[in-house]
Order: sequence, then structure tokens, then C-alpha cells
Amino acid sequence: MAKKRKILVLNGPNLNLLGKRQPEIYGRLTLDQINKKIRSLAKELGVEIDIRQSNSEGDLVNWIQEAPREFGAIVINPAAYTHSSVAIRDAITAAGIPAVEVHISNIYKREEFRKHSYIAGAAVGQIAGFGAQSYLLGLRAAVEQL
Ligand code: DQA
Repeated sequence: MAKKRKILVLNGPNLNLLGKRQPEIYGRLTLDQINKKIRSLAKELGVEIDIRQSNSEGDLVNWIQEAPREFGAIVINPAAYTHSSVAIRDAITAAGIPAVEVHISNIYKREEFRKHSYIAGAAVGQIAGFGAQSYLLGLRAAVEQL
């Protein structure tokens, strides 16, 4: 079967607040503004994308479980679930398609509890600390995995 040139971009909890949430850490761009940049890069790279955000762990798990039917790879910013969710890690492993973990901030420069990612062990790799650019780098990495 031909590999699907379609990428699922997932955002976890509180990322709907980007723009007004701790701008000194996460920048002043809203999620909509970041999504515009992602869509324009996707067009340039010739891939289809679907971008989703949820504050609920269950939604993210369900979307990851369903992803292989439609998508060839996942870009995910699991946000706070990075540091707590075995369920999201297991869903990525079970989905069996490549996932790229992205973070706006450099999680290794911050509080101790942010230095551990449950997701990293299931992801192809991780991009952290480049602000909104982390998503664009993540998309490029995901396209390479198709
Ligand atoms: C984040 C980092 C997480 O530690 C935090 O809980 C987030 C955002 C980032 O993109 O830098 O919500 O994933």
C-alpha cells in the first residue's frame, strides 16, 4: 500500500491558550497563528495535514489510535501530558506510525519535572526549544519519515 502523505498534528492541554499563556516562555503567537505557518509549510512540502487540539487525554489517545487509517505520521506537542501520560505513549507505540514530539520551550532548561518525557521513548525523535519553529522543524522531520 502506498504510504499516506498526510500528517496529523496534535496539540495537548492549554495550548489553546497560546498567545496569552506565559508569553515569556511560549511566545506571543496564538495557536491559530502557528497553525497558519504549519499549513503554509505543509503546502510547500506537498503534504496534507490535519491539526487538532484537545485538553483531554482521552481525545488524544483516540485520535492517535485512529491515525494509521488516514495518516502516515504524527507531529505531537503533548504539553503537560508529556510528563504524565503512559496512555499517550502506549497509543503511539500501538499506532505503529512515526511520531515526532515537539515542544515550544526547551523542557530541559526548566523545572525538574519537565525533564522527563513519557512520550520520547515512543517517538522517532524530539524537537524542543525553538518556539513556534519547533512545529515547523517537526513537520519537516515527519515528512522525512513518510
Ligand atoms: C510544552 C512544555 C510542557 O512542559 C508544558 O506542560 C506545555 C507546553 C511546550 O511546548 O514547551 O504545556 O509542551
